[in-house]
Amino acid sequence: MSQKGVTIWFTGLSGSGKSTIAHVLENRFHEAGLRFEILDGDVVRTNLSKGLGFSKEDRDTNIRRIGFVAHLLTRNGVIVITAAISPYRAIRDENRELIGDFVEVYVKCPLEVCEERDVKGLYRKARAGEIKEFTGVSDPYEEPLHPEVVCETDKESAQQSAQRILNRLVELGYIDASFAAEI
Ligand code: ADX
Repeated sequence: MSQKGVTIWFTGLSGSGKSTIAHVLENRFHEAGLRFEILDGDVVRTNLSKGLGFSKEDRDTNIRRIGFVAHLLTRNGVIVITAAISPYRAIRDENRELIGDFVEVYVKCPLEVCEERDVKGLYRKARAGEIKEFTGVSDPYEEPLHPEVVCETDKESAQQSAQRILNRLVELGYIDASFAAEI
């Protein structure tokens, strides 16, 4: 099956569903025998960005590092999925410039819903003041202005979100038309 290098850049609050959708996409790419790589925020922070914190400066460094690796892979024909909060618009746009083949996916979910899910128990800690500079609570999140795809995870399943991303990738010519939804 044919593919063209591209970075699928997820952005959204903690607990919005970035990693969940990324893993659905991963399964679809794996089944189809495509070459892909995932750069997940939580994973990157245990190696490539180990030691970085959550100040604006450290987040910018983290996102620039992810962007640089995504750039190298993308230009070698790999489909790259990044799943970090990436709260600052300017650095996301910087990566868009660098990478070129860049599909921004805004994983949109109301803060209240992310807090209610509180998968990792971090919102509770942030509200209690145990974690400082927590995105959405005590640190900013800048929504994308022109994302290629918006996934509203409080309204659709991860499978539906993933399918809409695949459809967009087909439309943009990055993957084969056989990925298009049957509907
Ligand atoms: S980013 O801002 O630099 O893009 P990244 O996606 O790598 O963030 O890491 C976010 C993850 O780190 C969250 O999903 C959460 O598990 C954890 N985390 C710990 N402290 C914070 C914080 N202050 N703000 C946001 N996420 C945090």
